[in-house]
Amino acid sequence: MVLKVGQLIEDIATGFAQAELFYGHGTDNPYDEAAALVFHVMGLEHAGDVDQYQHEVTTEQHERVQLLSVCRVETRKPLAYLLKEAWFAGIRFTVDERVLIPRSPLAELITGHFEPWVNQDKVSSILEVGTGSGCIAIACALEFPTAQVTATDISPDALEVARLNTDRYQLAEQVSLVKADLLDGIEGSFDIIISNPPYVPDHESAELPSEYLHEPVLGLFSGADGLDSARRILQDAPRLLSAGGILVLEVGAQWEALEQAFPSLPFIWLEFEHGGEGVAVLQAVDLQQ
Ligand SMILES: C[S@@+](CC[C@H](N)C(=O)[O-])C[C@H]1O[C@@H](n2cnc3c(N)ncnc32)[C@H](O)[C@@H]1O
Repeated sequence: MVLKVGQLIEDIATGFAQAELFYGHGTDNPYDEAAALVFHVMGLEHAGDVDQYQHEVTTEQHERVQLLSVCRVETRKPLAYLLKEAWFAGIRFTVDERVLIPRSPLAELITGHFEPWVNQDKVSSILEVGTGSGCIAIACALEFPTAQVTATDISPDALEVARLNTDRYQLAEQVSLVKADLLDGIEGSFDIIISNPPYVPDHESAELPSEYLHEPVLGLFSGADGLDSARRILQDAPRLLSAGGILVLEVGAQWEALEQAFPSLPFIWLEFEHGGEGVAVLQAVDLQQ
């Protein structure tokens, strides 16, 4: 019998559901995870039409999908690492275990040009702190083609992956990759400083699903309350923000703890159409206090 894409996705999704995998590295349910795997192996486009579900699967493609699906279940490695690919802001990125898998809600803010927080035409310089795969810096560069983007990371391994991605999109001139410990040693004036720093409290490491153990520790943990990096960014950002600039800082579930730690700062917590929480916008003027 001829095997079609739609049926193969159903079969793989059933196996994933029985294996009780953890999702959260690009998809949030067995069906979407299975579809991502099958579409990748078959070279289909997620934005393509529904006819794709009727495509016939060759024996070779079927075997490849099964191999990867067994690997996903047995190793609990996130699919993005098995495929060496992740999507962010509608763009494909090369990823491997040297970088966190892109999944930040910041994608929505970037593709929306940070409205209403900045005047798009006046953004000439953007700083991303903790770039990992480079996904945020690259998405910013593509959305603001006339802006210069500086992207930092403390991990040389991560910067190598970011380099693969800036090369992939021919952005080596627009995006400068810099090895730095948060904002230490960074000079300049930026219209937007954006960061998705590590923010998982250290003590939560034992409770995380196995999938997270494949990700770099540097990308996840940041001290007893998860806010070590955020604190330092809040302290150092004012000297680097232009007069009308903004700081966009993601701290996920730690947002209430951050508010309590900085009661005088007027954090504006954003809401996202596609989910996610704990992203604050602060204006330069509010940080000067
Ligand atoms: C949560 S990951 C975010 C990666 C990427 N921006 C994204 O959104 O997918 C945090 C990143 O910050 C980097 N990082 C951790 N501590 C750092 C530090 N002290 N200075 C600079 N980067 C740091 C990690 O290596 C990691 O790439």
